[in-house]
Amino acid sequence: MDLAALVRRLPKAELHLHLEGTLEPDLKLALAQRNGIDIGQSTVEEVRATYQFDSLASFLAVYYPAMEVLQTEQDFYDLAMAYLRRAVADGVRRAEMFFDPQAHTSRGVPFSTVIEGYSRAVAEANLAGVDGQPISAALIMCFLRDHSAESAAETLTAAIPYQDRILGVGLDSDERDQPPAKFAETFAKARELGFKLTMHCDIDQPGSIDNIRQVLEMIKVDRIDHGTNIVEDAALVELVRDRGLGLTCCPISNSFVTDDMKATEIVDLLGRGVRVCLNSDDPAYFGGYVADNYLALAQQADLGPEEMAQLARKSIEASWLGDAEKAALL
Ligand code: ADE
Ligand code: ZN
Repeated sequence: MDLAALVRRLPKAELHLHLEGTLEPDLKLALAQRNGIDIGQSTVEEVRATYQFDSLASFLAVYYPAMEVLQTEQDFYDLAMAYLRRAVADGVRRAEMFFDPQAHTSRGVPFSTVIEGYSRAVAEANLAGVDGQPISAALIMCFLRDHSAESAAETLTAAIPYQDRILGVGLDSDERDQPPAKFAETFAKARELGFKLTMHCDIDQPGSIDNIRQVLEMIKVDRIDHGTNIVEDAALVELVRDRGLGLTCCPISNSFVTDDMKATEIVDLLGRGVRVCLNSDDPAYFGGYVADNYLALAQQADLGPEEMAQLARKSIEASWLGDAEKAALL
C-alpha cells in the first residue's frame, strides 16, 4: 500500500481545525448566491485567487471578510457537514473543531444561529456517522484575542445556555501584543464552568515563548495549539511532556505563515515524548486537509509508515475523549 493510502486509513483525531477555515471556494459561491450577496467573484478560480497571504496577519485579513457569506443556521450546518465529510475520507474518527462566534456576532449574526447550525451537524455526525463512517465530533469556542477582554467575557456568558454543546474554549486570531494574560479571568471562569482550555501560541510570533509560559503557568491549559516554539526551552518541553499536554501542529499552515513547516521541531518533539499531532488548521485556505499534512511532513522529514502511525496515535491520545473512548480508537 502506498503511504497516502496508509495515512488515510489510520484512525486519527483532528484537534486544530477552524470550521470557518474550511470554507472552500465552491461553497462560498453557493452560499453567496443563496444569500444574495455580491462577493465580487463568480468562479472558483476567482475566489481561490483571493486566498493569497504570506503571514498570519495577511491570512486573517482575507479570512474574516470571507465569512460574510455565512448568514443562516443552515449555512453553518452546511459548512460543518462539508468539513466532516472531508474528514472521514481522511480517516478522522474524532474531530474537535474550533469556531469563532465573535467573527459572526460582530457583524450582526446572532450567537444562537452559529451554535444551532454547527451543533446540529455535530449531533447528526455523533448519532449516525458521516458517509457511512463513524466519527465523534465536538466544538471548541475560540475567543478572538484582538478583541477586548470584555467581549470575550460576554461571549462566554452567551455560551452558557449552550454549554452541553461546547466541549472547550480556545484563543485565536492575531497574537501580536495580545498575551494570554489578557484573558486570564475569562479562562478561569470557563474552567470553573467545566470547559476544557486551549490557546493558540502561534509559530514565531513576537513573544511566543513568553506566551507559552503564560499558558502553562497562569492559564494552565489542557492543550496548546501550535506551540512548537517550546523547543527553545528544555524545561518547557519537559513540562509539556510530563503533563501529557497535546501540541496541535499544522505543518502546511506553518509553511504558509512562516515559510517553514517546522518539520525539524515537530520530529524532535515527537522523539522527546511530547504528544505532538498533525492538523490542517484552515484547510480551504492552506490547500491541505489532515492527511495532506501527514504526507507533507513525511516528505519533508523523510518519515515512513511507523512514524505516521505514531503521529496518528498521538492525535488520539491528545484528544479530550475519555480513556475508554481513546482505547477504542488506539
Ligand atoms: N484563526 C484561524 N486560523 C488561525 C491561526 N492559525 N492562528 C490564529 N488564528 C487563527
Ligand atoms: Zn489555528
